[in-house]
Amino acid sequence: MRIIITDSYRQMGREAANMVAGQLYLKPDSVLGLATGSTPLPMYRRLIALHRSLGLDFSEVTTFNFDEYVGMAPDNPQSYHYFMNENFFRKVNIQPDHTHLPDGMVKDLEAEGHRYDALIQQNGGIDLQVLGIGQNAHIGFNEPDVKFEARTHCVALDEETIRANSRFFESPDEVPRDAISMGIKTIMMARRILLLANGTSKAEAVRKAVCSSVRPEAPASILQLHRDVTVILDRAAASHLPTHIEGTKIIHKNNGKNTTFSS
Ligand code: GLP
Repeated sequence: MRIIITDSYRQMGREAANMVAGQLYLKPDSVLGLATGSTPLPMYRRLIALHRSLGLDFSEVTTFNFDEYVGMAPDNPQSYHYFMNENFFRKVNIQPDHTHLPDGMVKDLEAEGHRYDALIQQNGGIDLQVLGIGQNAHIGFNEPDVKFEARTHCVALDEETIRANSRFFESPDEVPRDAISMGIKTIMMARRILLLANGTSKAEAVRKAVCSSVRPEAPASILQLHRDVTVILDRAAASHLPTHIEGTKIIHKNNGKNTTFSS
């Protein structure tokens, strides 16, 4: 694991966008795993800027998003489909039929999970998976006590997640109670993983992800067992981390420049 601590939310997004851009320069037809939420927004903004200023090319890229609420149509402004179209897809030259999200409107959600995993495999698997993290250390919608072997499946949302996500709705009652999410196994099969977090509300979840014991109560802790994970944080999200973590390289960046290393 490699941890990059930046001095702001914006800088976290720039570092993340640079990693995605590097992936696309090396492999223009990359398969990207993408996330929604407020965390990756500055990364999407920067990628759009790189597309406009440097011609960063998405024409051969394929994307798979993590998750979608159950019962939410793609044209609903609260849906993750809508979020992705508004914040990213519409603003770069990606082919709409190369963008995929699980369908939360189908009757048979189990079959939808199988279809989604099969489609990822048919496209050669995910090259780079971008992840946010929930305050309870969930990734995607893989809530505490998750089954690590699960692939894309339907999940009941945790009360803490419903509360956290209610900020995007008029009231907590409007937050859907179920979602369809890539499972931990789907995520762990990605070749590279990029975990992003910002703000003090994520500091404890980040600590659990990178230095607590690996256990289902802290779903993100499984990432310690993946061979290629980069964690990009702002200072607040890194505030509960110790200075040294066995086997982990920690890079501090100020204004985009590497300042200190420890491992
Ligand atoms: C949701 C999403 C996750 C996301 C998390 C954090 O529950 N399903 O994919 O990582 O919230 O969201 P935010 O980035 O808005 O804090």
